[in-house]
Amino acid sequence: MLAQPTPHFPLSINESRFIRATRRESVDVTPVWFMRQAGRYMADYRAIREKYSLLEICYRPELAAEVTLQPVRALGVDAAILFADILLPAIPLGVGLEFAKGEGPVLQNPICTMDDVKRMHPVNPDTDLSYVMNAIRILRGELKDVPLIGFCGAPFTVASYMIEGGSSREFLKTKAMMYSDPLTWHALMERLAVVLRDYLVAQIRAGAQAVQVFDSWVGSLDPQDYEEFVLPYSQFIIQAAKNENVPVIHFGTNTTTLLPLMKRAGSDVMGLDWRIPLDDGWFLLGEDVAVQGNLDPAILFAPLPEIKKRVHDILRRANGRPGHIFNLGHGILQHTPVDAVKAVVDMVHEFSLSQRERTRVREKS
Ligand code: CP3
Repeated sequence: MLAQPTPHFPLSINESRFIRATRRESVDVTPVWFMRQAGRYMADYRAIREKYSLLEICYRPELAAEVTLQPVRALGVDAAILFADILLPAIPLGVGLEFAKGEGPVLQNPICTMDDVKRMHPVNPDTDLSYVMNAIRILRGELKDVPLIGFCGAPFTVASYMIEGGSSREFLKTKAMMYSDPLTWHALMERLAVVLRDYLVAQIRAGAQAVQVFDSWVGSLDPQDYEEFVLPYSQFIIQAAKNENVPVIHFGTNTTTLLPLMKRAGSDVMGLDWRIPLDDGWFLLGEDVAVQGNLDPAILFAPLPEIKKRVHDILRRANGRPGHIFNLGHGILQHTPVDAVKAVVDMVHEFSLSQRERTRVREKS
């Protein structure tokens, strides 16, 4: 089922390149935006970060809105992504969250046992995460015809931070719970699925016009474990968002072997990381889903001609088929040159326009 036009959106948003591409409709040029397009690689962002912590920016809707708008103004991207973090729901749940300098997120009360799951607080996103909804309301007034993407973490990726207490390479504690205490695992996933669903639906009702579900680290699982321990919960969230009539993007990294199963979770768009050629990924998924991706974020550190070669290669693989949204295969890295990011936006728009013109000429002759 494709997302139906939602009456309270201005017509121009529903007909924007980005939203049309999520429905696999034809577009003038390929839409492009970047995961982590707001962040430390931008001087304007660093200026705000000198005065406020990451969480302070999230807590102040006018700052979160400003930071969301920075890349829209500087880069000319075709969509804005709300400035927030997938781990914010950990705060009202009572799991705790801080960003320690140089260490990434720290969750002070990690989840180890069934008692820990039961101790998690009830969450009402409209009140407990009202600052996120207020940022969305401000942005809807500012963005005019640029669509706003809301987001949440998928239950697996959020659970992994809550169990490990922070970032992880091997996900040992996470997998240990899955394999040795499946009752607690399923209780945690069920609890997170409901909270994250409510959080995502609240963002949509506040005005987000598309949503992305980030399952960044799910590629650490094999397909059998994905199907048994993760898929039902991701499916639950994605279905709820689709019932709100907005397009849903589902993204993870290292997912080459998981793509057909992840597709069953039901999103309109599947995110691809850079490890699989875009056309191979699309072939694995089938043509009845749109795809987003998939330039290696590290390519942005290469000289412009090399970047151009890689951008054109991805667009050739997409071959002008309706339903491609250009993005990186994961988030923008910290020291990325802004000029390279801006250049990619222009390359995508220019090359995809010339591709479409060539097709039109071929079809006429
Ligand atoms: O994309 C955007 O521009 C919107 C904002 C956004 C942030 N986090 C702000 C942020 C989004 C979409 C996220 C999602 C997020 N957060 C994910 C999924 C995407 C991914 O990258 O896989 C994950 C895993 C997190 C958890 C998280 N937040 C980590 C691991 C870190 C520390 C790593 C780092 O880069 O320092 C964060 C911090 C964070 N969240 C930053 C930003 C811009 C770092 C910059 C800062 O400290 O100012």
